[in-house]
Amino acid sequence: MDYRHICVDTSIGPVGAVISDVDLSDPLSDDVTSELHRAWLDHKILFFHDQEALTPATQAAFGERFGKLDVYPFMHAVDGHPNVIPIIKEPDATVNFGGGWHTDTSYVEKPPKATILHAVEVPTSGGETLFADAGRAYEDLSEGMRTWLEGLIGIYSPRAVHGRDGAYTKLKAASGDLGGSYGGSENFAESEVEHPIIRTHEETGHKSIYGGRAHVWSFKGWARDESKPILKFLTDHLTQDQYVTTFKWRKGSVAMWDNRCVFHYALNNYPGERRHMHRVIVQGARPG
Ligand code: SIN
Repeated sequence: MDYRHICVDTSIGPVGAVISDVDLSDPLSDDVTSELHRAWLDHKILFFHDQEALTPATQAAFGERFGKLDVYPFMHAVDGHPNVIPIIKEPDATVNFGGGWHTDTSYVEKPPKATILHAVEVPTSGGETLFADAGRAYEDLSEGMRTWLEGLIGIYSPRAVHGRDGAYTKLKAASGDLGGSYGGSENFAESEVEHPIIRTHEETGHKSIYGGRAHVWSFKGWARDESKPILKFLTDHLTQDQYVTTFKWRKGSVAMWDNRCVFHYALNNYPGERRHMHRVIVQGARPG
């Protein structure tokens, strides 16, 4: 693929590309934005280093080049920047945010197509994020499995993570570990929405595994206990080494991933150290 305005290096792993020659804190020209968009659709995740000049305002402005920004329902935003949330793990915390395989906020009617994460402060080692190519993982399934999965609708809900008995709710009550910014409406945390388990990307036309263990409560018409082993199989399948890229953050790094075809997992392997990120999400379409 030819790019005139950006450098695209795909040697990082099975999914994603490292982009250089771009300063994201500067307003981006239409030409640069359109090349970044093309590279993002081709490689599913764009990684950037040395973006220390990025502020909450310029991170939001960068996100807005790709669509309308959304408000994340379970975290209070950075002061004055309603679309930018802090993701912080303090040195004495034992639990981290995003420490399980998931796609962001898939339990809302129109889940975000993009997430843009900026590393404000990183531990001296560890704190990597793993990214899995759910599109290639889908293509490698047998024809029989693909056909069967395509008939399944998921009941997507924040309940298992953020609900009354959810994992984060219990952890916050026990330790306060998720930080002062974590919160949200209890009613919304128990809400449900229907989306397909296999999603067709509305820009590329490619199919991908979309439903995972974190946010699919059950398949429509199935019991949760019946659904869980299949959801586990899908997550185990798509997180095999051949689909996964490990991103090592530096202070100032940025990752922009496509939630329609990528799962991610924030490693919790830096005890005693602080990690501080800023995140924005860009609104997407209803999955089809
Ligand atoms: C997230 O799940 O959005 C956070 C990922 C990370 O902190 O690496």
